[in-house]
Amino acid sequence: MEKRGNFAGKLSAVLVAAGSAVGLGNIWRFPSLAADNGGGAFLVIYLLCVLLLGVPLIWAEFSVGRSTQLGAVGAYRKLNKHWGFIGYFGVLAAFLLLGFYYVVSGWTLEYFVESVNGNLSNYSTPEQYRAAFENFKTATWKPLLFAWAFILITHFVIAQGVQKGIEKFSNILMPLLFVILLVMAIHSVLMPGSGEGLKFFLKPDFSAISGRTVLMAMGQAFFSLSIGMGCMVTYASYFNRDTNLKATGLQVTMLDTLVAFTAGIIIFPAAFSVGIFNAGEAPMAGPELIFITLPAIFNSLPLSMLWSAIFFLLIIVAALTSTISIHEVVAAYLNEEWQIKRRWANWISTVGMFVVATLASLSLGVLNDCRIFGLTFFDLFDYVTANLLLPVGGLCTSIFVGWVMEKAFLDRELTNEGRLSGKIVPVVRFMLRWICPLIVLAIFLDSLGII
Ligand code: TRP
Repeated sequence: MEKRGNFAGKLSAVLVAAGSAVGLGNIWRFPSLAADNGGGAFLVIYLLCVLLLGVPLIWAEFSVGRSTQLGAVGAYRKLNKHWGFIGYFGVLAAFLLLGFYYVVSGWTLEYFVESVNGNLSNYSTPEQYRAAFENFKTATWKPLLFAWAFILITHFVIAQGVQKGIEKFSNILMPLLFVILLVMAIHSVLMPGSGEGLKFFLKPDFSAISGRTVLMAMGQAFFSLSIGMGCMVTYASYFNRDTNLKATGLQVTMLDTLVAFTAGIIIFPAAFSVGIFNAGEAPMAGPELIFITLPAIFNSLPLSMLWSAIFFLLIIVAALTSTISIHEVVAAYLNEEWQIKRRWANWISTVGMFVVATLASLSLGVLNDCRIFGLTFFDLFDYVTANLLLPVGGLCTSIFVGWVMEKAFLDRELTNEGRLSGKIVPVVRFMLRWICPLIVLAIFLDSLGII
């Protein structure tokens, strides 16, 4: 058996887990969902989901992973032999999720290249940016090659091993991302006419809320916090005995939420300022939102292509620390359960990812007519993982940790065997037993039109 990796530094647990959580979910997915689902009202429901579902579940996943020191499948099974299915479920979700995630990651890579070579500055109006993006996204080869490139980059970082690859990478680049985001948010708020955007993003209009909106907000909370598929379980298996799970979980949740919020502050004021959205109209966003708004923001800056290149580079990094964490779920599973050497486990996952990502990418162009439930593969993978698989995974985890595991389990993990205060443990257990399952079920039933 190969020696098991570990994260060394004290800060590392937070930065690595935050690296997984902060990604395209915050910068790409959150703003376009918020735009489509009522802006401020979506934000409020999203925050409630983070608080009521996200925090207890991230603690639950950390506890499962750190106590067993195993990846998703092995961890649940070691704790109870009937519950290994949660892990398998996670591996399935990881595949589908990465299918579209790699495609969007590829787009960011493409936009980085177009910034460096200056092509992105050839356009000026939002319509031109929209058209340029449409052309790019529906082409056959280019997006495919960029998605494949992204898969290979992820592969090679993972091949460097847990400590040298994942840890070192996150520690340097995550802090840089926060700084640049902040600078951009300030710039965006200072753009002329930004007030409408801020109002749209921050003022809740609950008339725009439907059962579907609530489902999307819940899915987004799971997606953004990387919970519901054993990803945080797998990462926590590399934490050491002294890692404070409560503090780490809270810090990760706060950082992640802060980044999503800041992305909103960057994108909405700018979108209204340059006229992509218009006051009084319901904005139409879609997955292309950031690929239109961001270039338009850069256009208004001196040295526009330099800013643009830096920014897309950072999104690439944010996406990469997330793809690594999902890829690792699959690789750790093959490595531990099938006794395949890490190196080969990594290659097998990579080949699998090539297949799903290719399907998702082509479904926006040549395979556009090939639809399931009216959705392209791209949309299907996105919708099914976030709104179905992750919440079901979270539901099972909360039932497992809340009802199946004895009380001492959470006690032990959240207090590091009594070395930290355990005051909050009964509250967490109550949330996992009652609040989380009931909320997830209620949202499911509601969106199916049953209640
Ligand atoms: N949270 C990441 C993002 O927002 C994506 C991600 C990484 C993820 N690992 C995950 C989503 C595990 C669900 C489950 O971009």
